[in-house]
Amino acid sequence: MRVIKSIQSLQRLIQKAKRSGESIGFVPTMGALHQGHQSLIRCCRRENKITVLSIFVNPQQFGPHEDFLRYPRPGRLDKMLAEKEKVDIIFTPTEKTMYPDGYQTTVIVGDRAQGMCGRFRPGHFQGVATVVIKLLHIVMPDRLYLGEKDAQQVAVLRQVVRDLNFPVTIRVCPTVREKDGLAMSSRNRYLSAIERNEAAVLYHALQEARFHIRQGMRNAGTILRRIRSRIQRQSSATIDYIVCVDRATLKPLVTVHGKVMLALAVRFGRTRLIDNILVNVP
Ligand code: PAF
Repeated sequence: MRVIKSIQSLQRLIQKAKRSGESIGFVPTMGALHQGHQSLIRCCRRENKITVLSIFVNPQQFGPHEDFLRYPRPGRLDKMLAEKEKVDIIFTPTEKTMYPDGYQTTVIVGDRAQGMCGRFRPGHFQGVATVVIKLLHIVMPDRLYLGEKDAQQVAVLRQVVRDLNFPVTIRVCPTVREKDGLAMSSRNRYLSAIERNEAAVLYHALQEARFHIRQGMRNAGTILRRIRSRIQRQSSATIDYIVCVDRATLKPLVTVHGKVMLALAVRFGRTRLIDNILVNVP
């Protein structure tokens, strides 16, 4: 496994691999790797000759009062996990490398970045899209691996890749969950024991909603009210949003039909978690 910090060194390696006709898969991360990342890496390794993993806690996607400074950075453990998973190249640029003095450019993303997390985290998706575009230019992968848990991020990046003509295929891997259903996230480690216990309600409430839809419930308002009331019973939970949207466009639905996504963001104490499930309603 090669650990590379410089853009030029990485590009030299990538160009050499490309000249030999080797396919490149790319897993962008902010580190604090868990089983969700592990599954992205495994999927990437199955489909590509070379797997590149980036670890970069991107300051541009954090708001001024968010957790940029306390975001976990267990560098050595991350490298051990990457090594165990047989990642070929880890790219760990510094902030100065990605945003040198005088750096000015950001991309503005459209509708898909406005609702849901975009409402509560202004500028977040602009920061995500900007860093991912930079990383795509640097890594030049054939395939980009993203997790379904970050569904709005996936929708935004699909739009960006299409609009800006990136020659890359986006591969989306299913959310990996703890035994009690809590979606794996680097932020789960912030939760106190009580909050961690209560956080399992997210998946259970979403599952219950899926059950009601399968039983014929079609009114999105009623479904969302049920999810809300179940989550509100947890003492440490504060709901940012719960939505029922079209999976591709993220437009809110009044009646559930087609490919539907139920998505939510809920804070347990100071920790903000997101989750979603997909339901096909013929
Ligand atoms: O999903 C993440 O970890 C980040 O948003 C990403 C895609 C690595 C960009 O910083």
